[in-house]
Amino acid sequence: MPGYFSPADQRALAGAVIAALADAPPYRPSMPRTGAPLSVTMSNLGPLGWISDRDGYRYEPVHPVTGRPWPPLPEALLTLWDAVSGWPQPPQACLVNIYGADSRLGLHVDADEDARDAPVVSVSLGDRARFRIGGPRRNDPTGSLVLSSGDVVVLAGASRRCHHGVDRIYPGTSSLLPAAWRPGRINLTLRRVR
Ligand code: SIN
Ligand code: MN
Repeated sequence: MPGYFSPADQRALAGAVIAALADAPPYRPSMPRTGAPLSVTMSNLGPLGWISDRDGYRYEPVHPVTGRPWPPLPEALLTLWDAVSGWPQPPQACLVNIYGADSRLGLHVDADEDARDAPVVSVSLGDRARFRIGGPRRNDPTGSLVLSSGDVVVLAGASRRCHHGVDRIYPGTSSLLPAAWRPGRINLTLRRVR
């Protein structure tokens, strides 16, 4: 849904998310087994948060560094979920992925949710990104699209189990985020976990 959020709504949402991150600072997760650091930093909003460390991928109610509960989901994200997800229950987690100029996210399937059929709703804020999406098998053919600030993507139905990732960021393509967050992109993914 290109341009779902107006520039004013994007500014308000980015402001709410950045304010919440003061209480749940972005941290750099590591990959299971290898412990290799990801090139994105992460945090979460909502009752549960997705984390990755040497013990694996999972959802936890507290921030792995501060030990505090994740901040509440901003009202605008609950409204978005109601408007576009078609799912009767509210989201339980919002993963906040923070990309710098050189960050990327390898092809993966979101598969750590018990609510396997609930859609994943994504919001892009800040610099553009090349988003890649394929099929249920890792070696299925893929296609890509550019996501701009304010765009919303809903992974529902068959696409819910499709591999996807972020090839690259286009630094300096948005002036939405405050200077300290530039160049950069914030992606929010809303999930129903249980
Ligand atoms: C994700 O798959 O968790 C994030 C996708 C994105 O950054 O657009
Ligand atoms: Mn994902």
